[in-house]
Amino acid sequence: MKLYINEQVTRGHIEPEVYGHFSEHLGRCIYGGLYVGEDSPIPNTNGMRTDVVEALKELQIPVLRWPGGCFADEYHWKDGIGPKAQRKKMINTTWGGVVEDNSFGTHEFMELCRQLGCKAYVNGNLGSGTVQEMSEWVEYMTYDGLTPMTELRKQNGREEPWRLSYFAVGNENWGGGGNMTPSYYGNLYRHYQTFLRQYDPNKPIFKIACGPNVDDYHWMRGVLETCYNHTEAKFHGFLDGISLHYYVHPEGWEIKGHATQFDSATWYKSLGKALYMDELIRRHGEILSEFDPENRVALVVDEWGGWYNVEEGTNPGFLYQQNTMRDALIAGITLNIFNQHCDRVKLACLAQVVNVLQAVLLTEGEQMVRTPTYHVFHMFRHHQDADLLATEALEVPTVGEGEWQLPKVTQSVSQKDGAVTITLNNLSLDSAETVDIRFAEKTGWQVEEARIVTGAMTAHNTFSAPETVTEQPFAAYAATEKGLQVTLPPCSVLMLRLK
Ligand code: AHR
Repeated sequence: MKLYINEQVTRGHIEPEVYGHFSEHLGRCIYGGLYVGEDSPIPNTNGMRTDVVEALKELQIPVLRWPGGCFADEYHWKDGIGPKAQRKKMINTTWGGVVEDNSFGTHEFMELCRQLGCKAYVNGNLGSGTVQEMSEWVEYMTYDGLTPMTELRKQNGREEPWRLSYFAVGNENWGGGGNMTPSYYGNLYRHYQTFLRQYDPNKPIFKIACGPNVDDYHWMRGVLETCYNHTEAKFHGFLDGISLHYYVHPEGWEIKGHATQFDSATWYKSLGKALYMDELIRRHGEILSEFDPENRVALVVDEWGGWYNVEEGTNPGFLYQQNTMRDALIAGITLNIFNQHCDRVKLACLAQVVNVLQAVLLTEGEQMVRTPTYHVFHMFRHHQDADLLATEALEVPTVGEGEWQLPKVTQSVSQKDGAVTITLNNLSLDSAETVDIRFAEKTGWQVEEARIVTGAMTAHNTFSAPETVTEQPFAAYAATEKGLQVTLPPCSVLMLRLK
């Protein structure tokens, strides 16, 4: 195949937050995964696991969403502040029926974001919380004046307000978050967000409405129609983003499928389902463009990833699953799609960061392992804050089986500080592809860095074999007059940095 790159033409800017992550009070994501408490024998700083924090910093994690997910619409933030011994205990009925002791709350989340050096994205409770409760949470976190909420924050040890970058009004309110209709939710969004004050005009909070599940275009249109101010022909300046949730369930929502044991048909089906993200963004984006032709409202894909059967012997409500080369490809395909749609997708969060669904890290006691997905995020970090370049892929073969005929290679290319980053996925299980990369103008490109993640389709990392799938140096390329010729092995994700 041929990949033409016009290094003179920029198609948009890739916001770093497209490479964001999601942490929910679910299974061992927060407790055991991110937070072990100050008295744990596992090395930690203020209760946060040192190994996990360091690994996430290597990814340049830009933003973290919390506390859910479904948990968000049952979370009452005042249960998670104050002296830990006095915090309310409850059963996490949504996820696994375990005791939630609320030892990780607002202060702990903000401390975690500080250690990670990332932006905070808090998801509010619309489903079972009041306007007052949501309004007071934002006041507690972000106001600097004298009020009962700011006094309470100070009593709890925090003088200064925190920087809260993103706030969502509810989660999946079309389902578990209240079974609402689009217009009912849209009206509640208008109502609740009114009381989420922008206390510091220099540090505005980006407000996010609950968007659709998968291809629910009816929900998207209904919420937008309800929130739109037809008189002023805008969204009042109160709707900055609307979410989209989409998971790859290889065998469907009910059956899902095994995380590490699958055949080639399931491989292509899974990757075909990952490619569907492109159509979802395009079609939801078209509806958004009817109301917002200037792309002021972001599409926020704040839950995405592969969702399979849990590992045998684990709590079904903990959603703990393994992560193979299939996940590496799902990540590579999806991140390339996000890059290609950087005009509309400004924030995205992989579900979830540690020990849940398509996690980048798995932990067991004091052990930690990086998954194949981790290594893809690490290679793709160079796209963060870069400009998307115009590309054209020609003579792309198809691969796949039966109804799942897919493009063999997907790509995106960006430029930042004079360096070009090219990321390529080879979806084929058995055939390499020669990619002839040609630039429009500049000649004499030098490869600064070339890394690859590749392996058998079910290859994965375990605590006893943590480096079965890792990033490897890549050398199968040769300079040509106009660029580079690359031999992309089957089942691989490649990153090239050129100058
Ligand atoms: O990520 C797991 C769950 O999936 C989230 O809690 C919910 O929002 C979604 O249905």
